[in-house]
Amino acid sequence: MISSPDLPTRLETARLYLRPYRAGDGPMYLMVGLRNRAHLARYEAENPLTTLTDTVEAENLIRDFIAEWQKGSAYFWGVFDRQTDDFVAQIYIGLTDRALPAYELGYVVDCEHEGRGYVTEAARAALRFVFEHLRAHRVSLHCDETNVRSARVAERCGFTLEGRIREDKRAPDGGFTDTLCYGLLRREFAAFTSQSSQNSPPPAP
Ligand SMILES: CC(C)(COP(=O)(O)OP(=O)(O)OC[C@H]1O[C@@H](n2cnc3c(N)ncnc32)[C@H](O)[C@@H]1OP(=O)(O)O)[C@@H](O)C(=O)NCCC(=O)NCCS
Repeated sequence: MISSPDLPTRLETARLYLRPYRAGDGPMYLMVGLRNRAHLARYEAENPLTTLTDTVEAENLIRDFIAEWQKGSAYFWGVFDRQTDDFVAQIYIGLTDRALPAYELGYVVDCEHEGRGYVTEAARAALRFVFEHLRAHRVSLHCDETNVRSARVAERCGFTLEGRIREDKRAPDGGFTDTLCYGLLRREFAAFTSQSSQNSPPPAP
């Protein structure tokens, strides 16, 4: 297991920086949750961010994130604008298989920052973290088939559509929707990053 002191606590991209949440972030996180409730209702209804009602609850959630980071079971990154320090997005990396190792990726963008490429930019930095620092062999990502914006982020990050789980969720109209299953392997990420010549490929484990 990779111990948390060996992990970076800041990732930088052209426009953004990513940092783990820290004690004292509760009030900021509550404001993020309150203004994004409607925005996240369709595809992130189970995200605890959407049900926060006060700062104590928000601070407790932040403390859970810190504990998860320390255990190596999940890494929640807050994504911020480098110039303004505004909260822009959140990236989630969850351990799914310690032996492989494999992780899953999740993301939400702040409603005032959607459609500007921030999530793709931050997700690519988070993927470098997963492959280089967590030594992942594989990363998976699931999204609803109607969540076109999310699928586009996955594809822009080099994920391959591997399959679909049929009719496993209710749609707002009472019908059913499928879940799209994406995967990204270590060697594919290395090829993807060297092709786009933005980053050096991750070293072999
Ligand atoms: C899914 C979600 C995170 C995608 O966010 P997003 O803002 O569309 O994704 P990005 O930040 O990568 O932005 C990409 C868009 O910005 C546009 N863009 C604008 N300026 C840009 C720039 N300077 N650089 C790159 N892209 C730019 C791109 O063209 C792209 O638009 P397109 O998808 O219409 O082609 C967001 O819709 C969301 O939070 N939804 C609710 C929660 C959710 O569904 N989470 C995922 C669950 S699986």
